[in-house]
Amino acid sequence: MIVSIMHEETENIHPWLEIPLSIYETHMSQSQVGQLSTLNACMQDQLNTYVARTVTVLGIAGGNGLEHVDPKKISTLYGVDINASYLKEAARRHPELETIFVPLCLDVTTQAQELARCDLLIANLVVEYLGYAAFLEAVQATRPTFVSVVIQLQEAETFVSESPMKSSFDCLETLLHPISAEGLGQEMDKNAYRLIHSQHIPLPNHKWFVRLDFAAREDH
Ligand SMILES: C[S@@+](CC[C@H](N)C(=O)[O-])C[C@H]1O[C@@H](n2cnc3c(N)ncnc32)[C@H](O)[C@@H]1O
Repeated sequence: MIVSIMHEETENIHPWLEIPLSIYETHMSQSQVGQLSTLNACMQDQLNTYVARTVTVLGIAGGNGLEHVDPKKISTLYGVDINASYLKEAARRHPELETIFVPLCLDVTTQAQELARCDLLIANLVVEYLGYAAFLEAVQATRPTFVSVVIQLQEAETFVSESPMKSSFDCLETLLHPISAEGLGQEMDKNAYRLIHSQHIPLPNHKWFVRLDFAAREDH
């Protein structure tokens, strides 16, 4: 069952509610975009690198990478997304996770305080849509030991890569916050997290992902 704590008035207007999952995933899988498989590999590594009984994945979409969850190691995995239909599909695709997967439909920019504590917080390609302040609210609410984030950087003008579906994503441009590895590092440092791993992952079209992993400091 999807736990929905969406505010009624937000439900019809958020741009991510206007993009069907099939369009999003087809776009992200195109060879000139090439991002879905890269994010899948990131999830595999994020889930296997850190010891965590409870995991929260912000912006989980259709559950890309959930096949790497080991139910013997993870007792609860919260999948958070603003789009209830994405969460429904993620749950449908992963019946083997029925007892541990908790889909949470909420808008992190306004409802981060509703998130439960967890050991590992994963946020792949979503901080750009949240901004630092909302993302840090999610970190404060979940108080994880580890945080692993993937952000996208580019040399080209636009954030969304070229593909036949590119125009479907025009509505997202207004949501984007300027995010940098340095800026995120500084914000995390202010919140008592230290950088423990940093990785540049090249993509087609002069773009690349940066993965940044943080651990809670002693003074956390
Ligand atoms: C680029 S996709 C993330 C891709 C995914 N992490 C993966 O590995 O394939 C961004 C996701 O964040 C979700 N999202 C965007 N803004 C959000 C918000 N304010 N609250 C919750 N989810 C949000 C979108 O619905 C979408 O599923």
